[in-house]
Amino acid sequence: MFYLKYRPKTVQDIDNSRVRDVVFNVLKSESLPHAFLLIGQKGTGKTSTARIFAKSVNCLKNKFSNLSDLEKTDTVNPERHKKTGSVEKVNKSSMEPCNLCENCLAIDHSSSGDVVELDAASNRGIENIRNLIRDSNFLPMSNRYRVFIIDEAHMITNDAFNALLKTLEEPPSSVIFILATTNQEKIPETISSRCFIINFGRAKRIDIFSMLKKISLREKIQVDEKLLNLIARYSDSSFRDAAKILEELVTQNKLTYEQGRQFLGVIRDDLLEGLVHHDLKASLEWVEEFSKSGGNVKNLIEFLLEELHTALLLKNGVKIEEGSDLNLKTEQIVKLMKLLTEAYNNLKISPIESLPLEIAIVEFYSYNFKKQSL
Ligand SMILES: Nc1ncnc2c1ncn2[C@@H]1O[C@H](COP(=O)(O)OP(=O)(O)OP(=O)(O)O)[C@@H](O)[C@H]1O
Ligand SMILES: [Mg+2]
Ligand SMILES: [Zn+2]
Repeated sequence: MFYLKYRPKTVQDIDNSRVRDVVFNVLKSESLPHAFLLIGQKGTGKTSTARIFAKSVNCLKNKFSNLSDLEKTDTVNPERHKKTGSVEKVNKSSMEPCNLCENCLAIDHSSSGDVVELDAASNRGIENIRNLIRDSNFLPMSNRYRVFIIDEAHMITNDAFNALLKTLEEPPSSVIFILATTNQEKIPETISSRCFIINFGRAKRIDIFSMLKKISLREKIQVDEKLLNLIARYSDSSFRDAAKILEELVTQNKLTYEQGRQFLGVIRDDLLEGLVHHDLKASLEWVEEFSKSGGNVKNLIEFLLEELHTALLLKNGVKIEEGSDLNLKTEQIVKLMKLLTEAYNNLKISPIESLPLEIAIVEFYSYNFKKQSL
């Protein structure tokens, strides 16, 4: 799978330029924060960055390595660092993980006892967090730092968050917590204010493009650059989705722009099609299917608004571009944009994620229906 094969392994590999700079600066600084909160949409590199970070601070061959310390504390096997010959190859000016030493490899293979990944979606209760706190009191076994990566941190219960507060504020000096979440609003202020926050946001099209370019060069695939741009547009602002789409197109051997466009068009243009043809049932079914399969409604609305915006400019001669012209009148486009903007603003307060969009669709349908019957 491309998305696993090309998971970033060094800070330099991170194709999200802003995040890359922040991580570099943190690693450069004299004192490391002991708690991080990584916020961002799915597939933007939170887990990858957390692992790179864990490797970096524990690597035996970069600026963080301190072999004499390690040898002293490594009572289990004091010979092991000598055996690997790490002494000669240490690069004190590098902050990057070498990805070759035993610490880096163990972290990559999830076999390091010092780097613990906890999925808060299934370990959200107070007992889980208490165990983790207890665990954090042990000294590292073969690394400098014990790193606790808590994924889906927003799933942690209130009680458990409260239990975590004190440890998060003052963890043992050899402990680093990295919380990752797609859902910033659900992280209590008391927690986030104790963390160094790195905002991943959504992946930018230009960054996704450069990741796709890199993959196609390494895989020696001849692919139209325009198609790479299109994939970036269709990837839900997620590096993972983009890598998956590219792989799918490679498997299907659809590597020209036209072929790719036809192939991808099937995905979201179906909803636009349903809206243009006032097919209420088809549109609602589409949204239902989309939500069930874990689609992000916020991104979907952003995508629809971008399409409508382009359609509006095309329709009024402001923009001239190839591509399909939506079969809607200007006033219909504007009405739909208003309804979708309202839906977008209501996303935060809606108990059901897809509801605001569904309401917008139904209202657009009745708007058209009323117009027709006038
Ligand atoms: N910054 C990036 N540069 C290049 N590729 C990336 C980047 N971020 C993510 N990817 C690609 O996306 C895949 C998923 O990344 P990762 O698991 O780190 O995302 P995540 O933010 O943790 O997602 P989720 O919220 O779904 O857990 C990676 O395996 C990699 O292929
Ligand atoms: Mg993740
Ligand atoms: Zn290393």
